[in-house]
Formats: sequence, structure tokens, C-alpha cells
Amino acid sequence: MTRLQDQPHQPSLKAMRGSFLDFVGDPFYVSEAESVRYFPDGLLVLEDGKIKAFGAYDELKADYGEIPTTVCAERLIMPGFIDTHIHYPQTGIIAAYGEQLLEWLDQYVFPTEGKFHDLDYAREVAETFLDQLLSNGTTTALVFATVFPQSVDAFFEAAEARNLCMIAGKVMMDRNAPASVCDSAESAYQESKALIQKWHKKGRLRYAVTPRFAITSTDEQLQKAGELLKEFPDVYMHTHLSENVKEVAWVKELFPACEGYLDAYDQAGLVKERSVFAHGIHLTDGEFQRLSEAKSAIAFCPTSNLFLGSGLFKLEQAKSTEYPVKVGLGTDVGAGTSFSLLQTANEAYKVAQLRQQKLSPFQALFLATLGGAKALCLEDRLGNFEVGKDADFIVLDLRSTPLMAFRNSPDAAKSVSELTDRAFSLIIMGDDRAIESVYILGELAYKCADTKAE
Ligand code: GUN
Ligand code: ZN
Repeated sequence: MTRLQDQPHQPSLKAMRGSFLDFVGDPFYVSEAESVRYFPDGLLVLEDGKIKAFGAYDELKADYGEIPTTVCAERLIMPGFIDTHIHYPQTGIIAAYGEQLLEWLDQYVFPTEGKFHDLDYAREVAETFLDQLLSNGTTTALVFATVFPQSVDAFFEAAEARNLCMIAGKVMMDRNAPASVCDSAESAYQESKALIQKWHKKGRLRYAVTPRFAITSTDEQLQKAGELLKEFPDVYMHTHLSENVKEVAWVKELFPACEGYLDAYDQAGLVKERSVFAHGIHLTDGEFQRLSEAKSAIAFCPTSNLFLGSGLFKLEQAKSTEYPVKVGLGTDVGAGTSFSLLQTANEAYKVAQLRQQKLSPFQALFLATLGGAKALCLEDRLGNFEVGKDADFIVLDLRSTPLMAFRNSPDAAKSVSELTDRAFSLIIMGDDRAIESVYILGELAYKCADTKAE
């Protein structure tokens, strides 16, 4: 008799059967027929946390009809959502009343982030934060920690324990903030370097060099951030850019030799591929052009931009054909008002409306999935159901509230055009209640506790 441990590794095949939606192209640039992939009755075959096969059930059943299969009737399965800008330490100050960016930072953010020198506190918040991400269908995020290296450790430890693909970094800030949450150019460099060596590419984790924004970093510190990017060319850079009118004016005073806000980062070598800039509300045409040339990305954070009164992002300019800039959606919690990328897409639609533009439901869902993966240079492993990618996906209920159940029929949409209307109702009416379950590397990681009547 052979003992179990003597046997060669047996890859375990399993499958999900149901309706599937993902994207194989960018619906801002190509037609729906070329970008939207929809199988009303599809099969997703999983092996060791990766996608082994994907397609119409009828086409795959001869090969995979007999493997253990979870059938998701009356549901829509999509790739996990990707949040391209969020602050885990701000989980507890979501919905802080009355201020715009600079006053909001002073009044609410800096005092809260000061608490994260306490590792146990940071650990507790990191768990709550990841619970919130998963219950909202977000499986990957680009995350600000705080100035304290232990707040990065707490976050990465928690993400690693859940097998999540997460990008995060220690905030660098050496001026214009209370001393209790400031580092120095040199300590920021040394501490970030140690964190890169400890966490970058550990399993599914990635590191982002994270100067908070040009106001809270001296030029010397930005130069140190640039040095880190040279030393570690495949780490990310994550910061804020041109969010608020007063902020932009202050940056001009602080960096008189620079052409504009983006140039303050550019002169330090921070404008590159794998650089992600949150907001970009008040960018000039030249700055959009520079971001396009550099292959940098913008995180569009509509709930935050409306909440702080920052302004309306020019999505159509970022998605121009002449100077295309990669764009993902960011919740930007705690300035953002929801962890849900569905609710974020809802507000993105309204921002477009206020600018006399249209954001189609598929464009919005693209931004929340493959668009986010591209913005984070993760499209080789995440963002859609291509064979070989990581099996991070979500099961959605398009009838998750009584009103949605009244509006949407239980049968699977028969075609992409029939799905368009329901997908739109999902982004306008949907929230965490629409997320029935979440799978990470093919394993169930979250199931909605709600016991809805079937
Ligand atoms: N700019 C600098 N820091 C922050 C922050 O924490 N949130 C937002 N929304 N903008 C910022
Ligand atoms: Zn932010």
C-alpha cells in the first residue's frame, strides 16, 4: 500500500458553473463585442488556485463535466474587484464631517494615523479593513499604511494570512504635519528599504514607495523615494496628485522651480510605469500627456472627490486615444464614503453625467476589474478569467435587495445586450449586499451571512 505522502502531487480540479462576465479588451477603445465576454451558462475550471479552463459549459463539459462543480444558479460570477487607492488606517474615520482636503487631514487624519505606532491597534484595524474589502468583493488593493513601519508589517501579515494579492507601503512625510506622524528623508529611506526587503514579492505581496503628497515631503525626501525606485525597479510608487485647488496652489509655492505639481514628482524620478497617482482632478493637458508617456496610472476616486468637494475627474481626457492614461477605480476610504467598488462606479457614473459624459456599465465594471489590473500592472495574473491567471473571483446576486429583486428577473440574461441593463442596475443599486461570496486562489474566503429568502 502506498502511503499518502509517497504519492505524486495530485492537482485537484474543481469548477464553478453559472453566468460569467469579464473583459478581454478595453470598452473605452474597442466595441462591446470586442471587449465584453459573457457566458450565460459557463464553466470556470480551477487547478491549484489558478484558472485551468474557461468557456461555455457546453464546450467544456466533455472534458470537465465530471469534476466537482459548484453550481451558482441565478448569480453572476466576475473577477474580483481591484481597488487602486485606499488607506487602511482611515477605516475608522470614514464619514468625518465638514472639511475639505487640507483641513480634513489636520483635523481627522493625522491624529488617527498617530495611533498606528501601536502594533496591536494596527493589527486590529488591518483585520477589520480586510474583512470590509472582502465583503465588498475587493480581492486586490493598492493601500496606504501610515508613517510607522509596524503599520505596514501589521497589514502585510494580515494580507498574507488570507493569501491576498495586496500592494502597500509606509507613508513618507517629513514636513507640514505634526511631528508625531513625521519621519525624515533619511529614516523614510532606510525604513522603506527594510520593508521592501522584507515584503516585496513575498508570495502575493508587493511594495509601493509611498510619499503621502508633495506638500508633506521635502524635495530631499522625494529624491530619496526616487533613489528607492532606482534600487528596486519593480516596486510601485503610490501618491496623491492635484486633488484640491488649495493643495495645487500650495505645491506651486513649495516647489517654485517646478513647472507644475506633477513636475515636482517627475524631477525626483517618481513618474514611471508602476506609478499610481490618486485623483488628478486639476491636471493640465501637459500633465495628462506626461502621465500617458510615462505609462503611469491614475486612481479615479469619485466618492472621495465628491465627499471632500475636490472636483469632477476628467475621465474622458484620461481615456483619450491621443494620450491614453491607465485608469482604475479607487475608493480612497476614509475620504471615500464606501468600500464598495459598485458604489464607487455609481458615483463615477454621476461624475460623468455632471460633465455631460456617459460612463457605460461595462466601462465602469472594466475599470473595477481588468482596468484596475492594468493600472496596477497586474494584468498578467489578475483582472479576468484568462487561463493561467489567479482564481480570485466573486459571485454576485443581482437581486440582493427587495427592490433589485423586483427590478431584475431571476433568469440569466441571454445576451450581452440583455445584460447591459442589469449590469447598470448592479452598479447603481448594488453594494456589499450584492456580494454573495468571494474566492481567493479558488478557495472560498467570504460568504454573505445574510439569509435571504430563496
Ligand atoms: N492627500 C494627502 N493625503 C491624503 C489622504 O489621506 N487622503 C486624500 N484623499 N488625499 C490626501
Ligand atoms: Zn487617498
